[in-house]
Amino acid sequence: MKIFLDHANPDIIKKYSPIIDGVTTNPSLIAKEQCFSGYHDAIKQIVSLVDGPVSIEILSTDAAAMIREAEELASIYPNIVIKIPVGLDGFHAMKELTQKGIRTNATLIFSVNQALLAAKAGASYLSIFIGRLDDTGQDGVSVVRDTVQIVKNFGFQSEVLAASIRHPLHVLQVALAGSHVATIPPGVIDQMGKHPLTDKGLEIFLNDWKNAEKCDNF
Ligand code: G3P
Repeated sequence: MKIFLDHANPDIIKKYSPIIDGVTTNPSLIAKEQCFSGYHDAIKQIVSLVDGPVSIEILSTDAAAMIREAEELASIYPNIVIKIPVGLDGFHAMKELTQKGIRTNATLIFSVNQALLAAKAGASYLSIFIGRLDDTGQDGVSVVRDTVQIVKNFGFQSEVLAASIRHPLHVLQVALAGSHVATIPPGVIDQMGKHPLTDKGLEIFLNDWKNAEKCDNF
């Protein structure tokens, strides 16, 4: 499973760049950062930080403007993936951009039907917001699992991307569900790598060696 970092801060992205396969952002994540002079400045800074795919959401809302905005960005940044909200305008834009060889990330997916239409439109990634679904009492991981099955059933080229991840169990669950990608906040990545028994085991190893150095036969 590929791991993308879900963040827009350049320093955070640099810190995790050795262990991630790409980056996803959205207007809210970018708006939180004070280090940009504007949306295009944010794009310029972020896209240059990793070699892998960087998803940047366009701000246009009608198909024609989406396509124009996407073409302009794709002409400047080769590793950019254009994030487009699902909906009729979005599907139209995804279809045309795919035909032009521009990668798209269908975002704000909350149902398998939305994912199916985005896959048919040729979206490179299908971003399913599992945390927000869970927040409403729905089972976000099941939408990932069913979408993975549909992609397999019909041989769609889209990759299922689990987003809105809240904790390490979400990562485990979407990995078991066969998600191609998980985009993960930095704090959750940190939690994934930790376990109290690891810390305790290392402490014991180092103490045992430290004590052993005092023996005469070393
Ligand atoms: O990539 C989408 C993600 O940033 C949304 O997460 O926590 O706002 O639902 P959240």
